[in-house]
Amino acid sequence: MSDSPAPAPPRITGLGYVRPLGSGGFADVYQYEQDMPRRVVAVKVLKTPVFEARDRSDFEAEADAMARLSSHPSIVSIYAAGISVDGRPYLTMEFCPDSMRALTIGKPAPLEVVLDAGVRLAGALETAHQAGIMHRDIKPSNVLLTTTGRPVLTDFGIAMLQNQYASDDKMRALSIPWASPEVNTGATPGTVSSEVWALGATLYTFAAGLAPFEHAERAQNTESKMKARIYQAKYRPIPGAQGYGPFDAVLQRSMALRPEDRFASMYEFAEALRQLQRAYGFDATPLDLVRPGWVAPAADFARPRGPVVTSVRSSTRAQQRAELRENQQLENSDGVLQDAPGSPVKSGLIGAGIAVLVLGGVIAAAFGMGWLG
Ligand SMILES: Nc1ncnc2c1ncn2[C@@H]1O[C@H](COP(=O)(O)OP(=O)(O)OP(=O)(O)O)[C@@H](O)[C@H]1O
Ligand SMILES: [Mg+2]
Repeated sequence: MSDSPAPAPPRITGLGYVRPLGSGGFADVYQYEQDMPRRVVAVKVLKTPVFEARDRSDFEAEADAMARLSSHPSIVSIYAAGISVDGRPYLTMEFCPDSMRALTIGKPAPLEVVLDAGVRLAGALETAHQAGIMHRDIKPSNVLLTTTGRPVLTDFGIAMLQNQYASDDKMRALSIPWASPEVNTGATPGTVSSEVWALGATLYTFAAGLAPFEHAERAQNTESKMKARIYQAKYRPIPGAQGYGPFDAVLQRSMALRPEDRFASMYEFAEALRQLQRAYGFDATPLDLVRPGWVAPAADFARPRGPVVTSVRSSTRAQQRAELRENQQLENSDGVLQDAPGSPVKSGLIGAGIAVLVLGGVIAAAFGMGWLG
């Protein structure tokens, strides 16, 4: 968290400021009320104004990435993105009244809650990975709780902006306890394996009430000491828990030192968590994956912004059929019988046929009863 006081909330057309919600390393979050339709929203405003066109397009790319994933039920919904009058980029999103971090800081969550959150978050991340998007900052403060109490992931891809706009290392330090060894050394900005580690470390924190390489004694938690422990990756079972052996085994695998020893995908990780749910006698959480067609590839978003050119024809299919019929009638207007379905001539012929059949039936019945002949 930043020590400097949050700057005044920006004026945004169509939104009325309500109150501050909190501050992170590179952004301030406020509650606003949207005018149309009227609803409460959270607005995340970057602390640093952007004036360069390139910075703006980077911000837009991140907003696009988040919005593309928003239809997943375990990812915070993004409503809009823009640049405020004073040049600060902002995102308006679903208001989440709580966060998993606030709920579990210093107090462990029940295993059933942790496993359920794990499957949901792994489903969100599998969807993102299939679309070629990395989260890059999975940690407890980025797992919010919706108004129905469901855990949802936020700050998708925002870590790239964080690195770009970070003026000092302090804000990056916020994520060290959950980052994998290879991310902490700077060897990679993020891979599927490093995300598997970060989700494992996040679930550990929910279950233990403190991060996997964090000490109860604060003096042991300096950046260098914490990193030294992460580089060794010596797994410490969830302290003081009974019967957590199988859960510890899954977390230990997610936080293996060598990336190739971890789960190969979020899908595999989710399946291991679902198997644990069944083994512990809990309901298995369904694994939600957004169908690939709905998360368009990044290339689709590279085209310039502007009015959308519709690919839908203005006439409906019913109109098209009517036009076709009209054209056929015009072609046959030289006196030839019309053959279009439902035409008056065709109806007349069908009617005459039915009349002949009915008359035939009556005559046959009359013979049968001896009235005729
Ligand atoms: N959609 C939201 N609804 C309600 N509160 C939110 C929302 N998004 C963020 N917050 C709150 O705003 C505060 C700041 O969030 P922010 O993401 O800026 O910081 P952080 O996650 O703590 O750290 P970091 O800067 O590393 O992401 C947190 O307390 C968070 O719970
Ligand atoms: Mg955050």
